[in-house]
Amino acid sequence: MGRKKITIVGAGNVGATAAHWAAIKELGDVVLMDIIEGMPQGKALDLMEAGPMEGFDANVIGTNGYEETKNSDVVIITSGIARKPGMSREDLLKINAGIVGSVTEQIVKNSPKCIIIVVSNPLDTMTYLTYKVSKFPKNRVIGQAGALDSSRFQSFLGMELKMSVEDIKVMLLGGHGDDMVPMPRFSTINGIPVTELLPKDKIDKIVDRTRKAGGEIVALLKTGSAFYSPSLGAVLMAEAILKDKKRIIPSCVYLEGEYGLKDICFGVPTVLGANGIEKIIELKLNDEEKAMLKKSADSVGKTIAEMKAIMGIA
Ligand code: NAI
Ligand code: 2OP
Repeated sequence: MGRKKITIVGAGNVGATAAHWAAIKELGDVVLMDIIEGMPQGKALDLMEAGPMEGFDANVIGTNGYEETKNSDVVIITSGIARKPGMSREDLLKINAGIVGSVTEQIVKNSPKCIIIVVSNPLDTMTYLTYKVSKFPKNRVIGQAGALDSSRFQSFLGMELKMSVEDIKVMLLGGHGDDMVPMPRFSTINGIPVTELLPKDKIDKIVDRTRKAGGEIVALLKTGSAFYSPSLGAVLMAEAILKDKKRIIPSCVYLEGEYGLKDICFGVPTVLGANGIEKIIELKLNDEEKAMLKKSADSVGKTIAEMKAIMGIA
């Protein structure tokens, strides 16, 4: 049995860092693809040259085409552009949808059996687009948001409690945006409900910081967005799939009635294993949680509708 193959499309901040995590974890051989000539090849070679020091055995190849990506087991899509001054949200949506749509067509052609993990933003909408363009079954198109957003929630709880993040387990639902729904009621510190250890006002502040955590990093970096943690989120999902771990990770997936939602890609708790999304877990929500989830779904639904109009998707 040969090694598994992971292709990462887009060798920018998120893509290159994903290659780094995947190589260190020895998930398989990595192909790093970007349209910029020389850049993915240079980053791949640099990463290969780190292998002997860390002792990882993974071939990392950089390319500007899809030939080398053939028959990948997992493909992570990180290609896209960031919003530039003077560019409207709609302009950005149009450009990124064009990029993700054409990348998906190439992936399907070259790796018809792969599982796709989408990272490009706006995440839920790009996952929906990839699902529609690929025509893959819904278990094989998965958006990365919940792994990262949960990890942010865990980090902030750990900082407040001054307790190990290893013991903090959280749940989080909804779209990848400021309306996401962190779930303190389903979050525990080694089995102890977080609501037992922190007062409501402290939890509320942490929930609010989690929702805005992407923007907090953008405000600090000024010229880009987060990449260490988002890339690890995608690689963690790839690991759960490639090692058939059956991990419970909130992921963005096409819904057909779960949580009362249809024809939308949205973040819900999922079991990730060799078949991609192996199960969607439906939690019993209270009225307040239901209302928050609806608000998040409404805003995701609006962007998906805009994208469908731009791309002419029925
Ligand atoms: P970046 O600008 O550093 O990298 C993007 C790369 O995509 C560039 O190297 C560019 O040349 C490449 N690219 C553009 N068109 C391409 C094409 N047709 N084929 C192959 N490569 C192409 O951006 P960064 O920071 O890596 O972010 C990537 C995407 O991930 C963005 O859309 C960003 O908003 C999103 N993101 C999503 C997160 C999530 O949690 N889902 C978190 C962080 C970022
Ligand atoms: C983040 O959450 C920008 O989606 C990106 O950091």
